[in-house]
Amino acid sequence: MSVAVIILAAGMGSRMKSDKPKVLHQIAGAPMLVHAMRTAEGISAEKTVIVTGHGAQDVEDVATAYNDTAKFAHQSAQEGTSHAVQQAAIALQNFSGDVIVLYGDTPFVQPETLQSMLDKKREGHGVVVLGFHAADPARYGRLVTSDNGLLEAIVEYKDATKEQRKIDFCNSGVVCVDAKLLFSLLGDVTNDNASAEYYLTDIVGLARSRGLTCAAIACAEAETMGVNSRADLAVAEVAFQTRARNLAMDNGTTLIAAETVWLAYDTIIGRDVIIEPNVVFGPDVTIENNATIRAFSHLEGCHVSQDAIVGPYARLRPGAELANGAKVGNFVEIKAAQIGEGAKVNHLSYIGDTNVGSEANIGAGTITCNYDGVFKHKTEIGKRAFIGSNTMLIAPVSVGDDAMTASGSVVTADVPDGALALGRARQENKPGFALRLMNKLRAAKAAANKD
Ligand code: UD1
Ligand code: MG
Repeated sequence: MSVAVIILAAGMGSRMKSDKPKVLHQIAGAPMLVHAMRTAEGISAEKTVIVTGHGAQDVEDVATAYNDTAKFAHQSAQEGTSHAVQQAAIALQNFSGDVIVLYGDTPFVQPETLQSMLDKKREGHGVVVLGFHAADPARYGRLVTSDNGLLEAIVEYKDATKEQRKIDFCNSGVVCVDAKLLFSLLGDVTNDNASAEYYLTDIVGLARSRGLTCAAIACAEAETMGVNSRADLAVAEVAFQTRARNLAMDNGTTLIAAETVWLAYDTIIGRDVIIEPNVVFGPDVTIENNATIRAFSHLEGCHVSQDAIVGPYARLRPGAELANGAKVGNFVEIKAAQIGEGAKVNHLSYIGDTNVGSEANIGAGTITCNYDGVFKHKTEIGKRAFIGSNTMLIAPVSVGDDAMTASGSVVTADVPDGALALGRARQENKPGFALRLMNKLRAAKAAANKD
């Protein structure tokens, strides 16, 4: 049985006070819209249609960058949730199967929850709605259920009676309906209500008037958390982080101060990894078993293999690839570089666009000078090479296996295997010169003070 997902993302989100469409604000390093798209992936949706309006081009660009099979439908005026879903009709005209409607600003609905909705629907109901018991039902739509557990109606807060407002079972907005039935029901929705909007929620009453049953299933309120303001965004971020940290610990990662570690939506961490306090993960990071990430490190777009040690105060940028047992120490930045097995870059270095061989040792203060102002160039460092402290490697350049560079060298030419490169001025000692110079300067100062 096929499933399609429609994600409503046309709203402006005026309470965000932003020039950016609301659904593009990020949680754990990914736009809220991407969280919703991942939920759709989680149920193997055959088609995902995103309804755009405000900032449509930006929204479409972000969605396409994440998944170029996403389809779009444009809603030029926001006339309500039913009207929004109707815009997806053309994109789904050849689709037959179940449709699930999600909101782009409700990023935490879990695929398992959608699967339970699909299961419920396949028991023979016309429409299945996802509800939750709200601690504070506020202005949510209320789900009116009968004694036998069926859903009788969804009543918007504005249109609800005093009695109905006492109901704490609220509409999350997520619905599941057969595609053909959905678009047929939407054709009958009117805007005869307190907001003069076309309500998607009306499809429940309409389905029942056609003799179909409707049902509601409940999920935890945390899953349906919506974001309307910057304050909501901060609350959502903490909710995501709490869940992700707990999941990491459940899977065998030690987080010494869990509340200070910030994970991304896609961070993958292996068993017996130790993460010290105040580590920040950007997107696309994988950490293998037994690695240690020491305090105050920042990692994004990188891969850390088994037994490697990173930090404290290290920065791994996109394309950093650490092999087993590699060590990257304090105040070291690695970008687009492979650090071979057991190799060490322990202090105060920049290694970019570089291949470092296994067991090589990169001395303190080494810089790969990879950028000439226009082009980036590559550095090759061989196995067991020893790069002396404060070496400047002017790329493109290579240092061979078992080769050395003398401290303070500026290396502009390739160094053969096993060779020592000296690229600095030869030292000259002038006996007694320092003493004579200092005496002369002190005498000059004494003379100046007399005047
Ligand atoms: C909706 C539900 C309400 C539910 C609540 C849960 C309706 C009529 N009401 O109310 O029962 O409790 O969500 O949060 O469905 N959107 C569009 N185009 C439109 C209108 C909305 O894309 O024309 C998008 C919005 O950007 C938003 C979502 O649909 O992501 C929900 O719209 P919103 O206006 O927030 O609906 P609520 O009034 O909160
Ligand atoms: Mg809303």
